[in-house]
Amino acid sequence: MDPIRNPYAPGAGAPPPALAGRDKLRGDARIAIARIRAGRSAKSMILVGLRGVGKTVLLDRIKLDADQLGVFTVRAETPEKRSLPAVLSPQLRQLLLRLNRVEKARQLATRGLRALAGFAKKLKVKYGDIEVGFDFEPEAGLADNGDLEGDLTTVLEQVGMAAGKADTAAVLFLDELQYLEEEQFGALIAALHRCAQQQLPLTVIGAGLPQLLALAGNAKSYAERLFDFPFIGPLTQPDAREALVKPANAEDVEFDDDAVEEILRLTHGYPYFLQEWGKHSWDTAVKSPITRNDVVSATQTAITALDDSFFRMRFDRTAPKEKDYLRAMAELGPGPHRSGDIAQILHKAVSTVSPLRQSLIAKGMVWSPAYGDTAFTVPLFDEFMKRIMPGKDWKSE
Ligand SMILES: Nc1ncnc2c1ncn2[C@@H]1O[C@H](COP(=O)(O)OP(=O)(O)OP(=O)(O)O)[C@@H](O)[C@H]1O
Ligand SMILES: [Mg+2]
Repeated sequence: MDPIRNPYAPGAGAPPPALAGRDKLRGDARIAIARIRAGRSAKSMILVGLRGVGKTVLLDRIKLDADQLGVFTVRAETPEKRSLPAVLSPQLRQLLLRLNRVEKARQLATRGLRALAGFAKKLKVKYGDIEVGFDFEPEAGLADNGDLEGDLTTVLEQVGMAAGKADTAAVLFLDELQYLEEEQFGALIAALHRCAQQQLPLTVIGAGLPQLLALAGNAKSYAERLFDFPFIGPLTQPDAREALVKPANAEDVEFDDDAVEEILRLTHGYPYFLQEWGKHSWDTAVKSPITRNDVVSATQTAITALDDSFFRMRFDRTAPKEKDYLRAMAELGPGPHRSGDIAQILHKAVSTVSPLRQSLIAKGMVWSPAYGDTAFTVPLFDEFMKRIMPGKDWKSE
């Protein structure tokens, strides 16, 4: 059918034509933000889930909802190898400049910009990647001790006070939180804790891979009192059906029931895969309704598309020995697997391969759902590993 009218949107962070199954979480976030704004207690929210499950698009939707409530928002990603102060500084500057335009908050916002100037100038020595414009001179003694936790706390307090004065709230949306260094995550948690104690209208809504749970807990033991970590999973059958059928219906195209069944079976309700199968089934079908045969014919192109982008992107970031580790996991099935079983497939001692496991966790490829267990962060990655490293003779050495 007409590819120009194809509604599906596979791709990292690509807004789906229908955001299915996430209304409850959107509602929870809206309530939390409204409570924070009213000076009431509410936990910050961090969306946790596997790759391609829809964390980023949900985060962006919650941000849109917050913008519509008249809350002041900023959004950033904390990618690998960038420091938290570098990522936050320009965003906090944006926030403070906006607050600085609100007459009654001007004084506090100006002081916030001074705090930020002191913060960035001092911490630049340690975090060389900070780049931010300065609008005001620093104020001696304000957020310029050179200690991330204390200085970040001061800056966020200033932002929170200014937001309160402006009768709004400041919400920082942060994606890919699993890449934060533990010490920096700890500083962020401590600063938010301080703001919460003072009932300042400032919060973080975050997202990331499941390893961030352990990271947050290690960074500050009280993290779980401060944050809710809702787990974003695959869509339930009715929600997955809606994600698939609703966009087609909007274009006057129907799906046969058994076509939908087949897609649900192949994708297990994972949003990224639903978009990919929706797209290729549409392109393959000649007319409405889309049939089970269309889906079957589209399956090979859908898998190839995933292999070339979604899976490949992750695979290419690993070293040969890490690939062996992942392939050994795949040999055992979808997982989670015991570290000992994986080591056995590799004919190595657990202690020998444990650095590989650690680096794969840091790279966001695997995580540990329970002590000694290892699981893929990418759904259906075991099947991909068997496609890309087929047969029995896959070891790099
Ligand atoms: N609720 C949903 N309904 C339908 N499609 C969705 C839904 N959530 C996400 N998608 C689709 O799934 C794909 C992946 O979404 P997104 O990039 O937000 O995932 P993610 O969890 O952030 O992945 P990653 O961990 O790789 O960053 C996109 O193509 C998006 O359109
Ligand atoms: Mg994402």
